[in-house]
Amino acid sequence: MSADLRIGIAGTGAIGKTHIERINTRLRGGKVVAATDASPTFGKATAEQYNLEFFPDCDSLVASKKIDALIVTAADDDHERFVTSALKANLPVFCEKPLAPTADACKRIIDLETSIGKRLVQVGFMRRYDPGYRELKRLVDSGEFGAPLMLHCAHRNFSVADNYTTPMAITSTLIHEIDVLRWLVGEDYATVEIQQTRPRQSARSANHDPHKRQRHTHGRRSTRDKPHRLRHPVRSLLRRRILETARTPHRPAPPPRATRNANLPRLVGTFRRSVQY
Ligand SMILES: NC(=O)c1ccc[n+]([C@@H]2O[C@H](COP(=O)([O-])OP(=O)(O)OC[C@H]3O[C@@H](n4cnc5c(N)ncnc54)[C@H](O)[C@@H]3O)[C@@H](O)[C@H]2O)c1
Repeated sequence: MSADLRIGIAGTGAIGKTHIERINTRLRGGKVVAATDASPTFGKATAEQYNLEFFPDCDSLVASKKIDALIVTAADDDHERFVTSALKANLPVFCEKPLAPTADACKRIIDLETSIGKRLVQVGFMRRYDPGYRELKRLVDSGEFGAPLMLHCAHRNFSVADNYTTPMAITSTLIHEIDVLRWLVGEDYATVEIQQTRPRQSARSANHDPHKRQRHTHGRRSTRDKPHRLRHPVRSLLRRRILETARTPHRPAPPPRATRNANLPRLVGTFRRSVQY
């Protein structure tokens, strides 16, 4: 049997430690053997805990020839630099999402990988491997509920770190939906629109408001990320009615419900126009 893949890790924070723990204690075929972190105190303590060699920076880790692959779990702004360093050394690299915080930086990485001529980069988009998402995809593909016309997605974190800023709601959080919804419905996006809601009083000063509402349209479909519950009962009712109407041809639409709201037909029209089929 071949020897374990020797893995280096750049960034021994929350997710970095999770990867070390999982690879070194629960998986076979690879071992994290070396690490670097911007905080030597913290990084060295983690290295000692898991019996890893500690390097002062990512360049020296990559140049050491002591690793066969690199995992990048440092802060987003450093991803491009570290992935580039691994690619230049011809090392496979797993980079936590986002690959980089800007499209230009991602393109530079892809161009470099393309020029090398083999796939060396994998990004940490893991939802498509999640049993819940896989079951959802199976149901979507089965057609049992008809074509998906609208998706409501919510991303809830109990808390975020102090360095979490408003743009990270897109580059670090929404990015999961941008990735997985393509896979889920097998379609690319026509447009992506970000709508800012009113700041809440409880929002931290660094953030306009971490909760935003996003709308993506792919072709005729519409995807709306809804980080907080629709509290308005009429909107909820409309949403349900539209989704029910959309469940064709696999299921006949149920008969219209009795409603006491005389404005419902007008509101349905407004709502339909707002979701861009
Ligand atoms: N796939 C997912 O769902 C998922 C989940 C959590 C985090 N992440 C990603 O993983 C990355 C790290 O997130 P985290 O929650 O572990 O953050 P964290 O702040 O807990 O850890 C980041 C670590 O990187 C270190 N670091 C920062 N700059 C560095 C540098 N120049 N060189 C070496 N080390 C450096 C920090 O000292 C810290 O220890 C982020 O890009 C985040 O988006 C992905």
